[in-house]
Amino acid sequence: MKKPIVAGNWKMYKTLKEGQSFVENIVNLTLDIDGVQVIFCPPFPMLFHIVEILKNSGFKVGSQNCHWESEGAFTGETSPKILAGLGVDFVILGHSERRHIFNEPDEWINKKVHAAMNLGLNVILCIGETLQKRENGLTEIVLTEQLQKGLLSVDKSEKLVIAYEPVWAIGTGVVAESRQIEEAHELIRNWLKDKFTKNMANDIPVLYGGSVKLENVEDLISIPGVDGFLIGGASLKEESFSGIIHKVENYYKG
Ligand code: PGA
Repeated sequence: MKKPIVAGNWKMYKTLKEGQSFVENIVNLTLDIDGVQVIFCPPFPMLFHIVEILKNSGFKVGSQNCHWESEGAFTGETSPKILAGLGVDFVILGHSERRHIFNEPDEWINKKVHAAMNLGLNVILCIGETLQKRENGLTEIVLTEQLQKGLLSVDKSEKLVIAYEPVWAIGTGVVAESRQIEEAHELIRNWLKDKFTKNMANDIPVLYGGSVKLENVEDLISIPGVDGFLIGGASLKEESFSGIIHKVENYYKG
C-alpha cells in the first residue's frame, strides 16, 4: 500500500538558518516514524542545503514551482533540470497562489508537468475551486477542467500526486467540510480512473490542503479518499508539523 503523504509548503517563509534547524529538529522529533512519506518544500535558495541534510534519510524535498524549459533566457526562473541536479524529488505545480497571484494558466502548468516528469521529478499537481465558483455550483466543472488541462497528454501516473486545495480554505482557517472533501476526492479519483487504468489511478495519492492543523488532522485523515496532506501554515512550526506526522502515522497503524 502507498504511504500517506505529509508535505509542508513553506511558501516564502524561513531563512536558511531557520530552515536548517527546523528540518533537523523535525527529523529528531519523528525518529519513530516509518509509515508516512514526509516532504519539505522550502524556497528555492534553501533546496540544496535541505537536500544535503536529508540525504540518506527517508525524508524527501520538493520545490514550490519550476519552469517548463530545461534551460534558457528566463530571468528569475528555475528549471526542472536544475532541481533534479540538486537532488530534489518533488515539485508542486499549479498551487493556487501561482494560479491567482501570478496568473499561471493551465497551459503553462501542463507544460511544467511534462517537463518535470521528463526530468524524473514527482509532481504534486494542485487543483481547487474559488469560493465564487463553489457558490455558483461550478466546483465539479472547475476541478475537471484543471485536471483535463493540467494533465493533457500525460500518460504516466507513477510520478503523479494530486492535491485538492479549495482556494477558500487556503490560509483562511476555514476547512472544507468532510462531505465536500469526500465528494471532491471521489470526483478526482473517478476522473483519474477514466484517464488512466483503475489500478494506475488507485496508486495516485490524492492529498487535501487548506487550513490543515494539528487540531483537525485526525478528522481529515479519516475522510475516505484522503491519502495525506499539503500543509502551509501548520508546516512552519515544529510542534504542529511533527504532531501532524505522528497523528497520520497513528491513524494508519490503527
Ligand atoms: P494552509 O496552506 O495550510 O496554510 O491553508 C495550504 C497550501 O497553501 O498548500
